[in-house]
Amino acid sequence: MWTTLTTAQVTEKLDSLATSAPSVTALLEGVAQLLHENILRYNWVGFYMLEELAGEEPMLVLGPYRGSMTPHTRIPLHQGICGAAASTGKTVIVDDVNSDSRYLACSLETKSEIVVPIFAVGKVVGELDVDSHFPAAFGPGDQELCEYAAQLVGRYLTPKA
Ligand code: SME
Repeated sequence: MWTTLTTAQVTEKLDSLATSAPSVTALLEGVAQLLHENILRYNWVGFYMLEELAGEEPMLVLGPYRGSMTPHTRIPLHQGICGAAASTGKTVIVDDVNSDSRYLACSLETKSEIVVPIFAVGKVVGELDVDSHFPAAFGPGDQELCEYAAQLVGRYLTPKA
């Protein structure tokens, strides 16, 4: 039988992923899958991680994701909703992507988007990106849940003292 989980149950599963994931990649895969499978309006869920190579422009590089293929595998910080969230270090919610000139289209079906930066040791190291086929799909509860997931990844990436 197909069932979906409550936010509290998703949070609990996020916690257990963070304690059991054997690697960062496994954690990112697990978080993307959990959110995509259990919150039906989250139609694309994925990570972009910040790549900073000497002498090159910083780049957001596509990591694990669930949903359709996206043409945006590398995004510079001055482009897209993704670039805006990473460069400001703030969550960006766009209720209607088609009226936001920053938006880089991934799927024609996408109507709204949330991008949450991931911090490790006080610095943006990546972000969680969620797209929905529904307009204004991301309310305060979604922001809280996505920020919780992003913090969990940030903590995983923070070296233990
Ligand atoms: N829409 C994003 C690009 C990433 S795709 O949605 C997966 C943006 O505007 O930055």
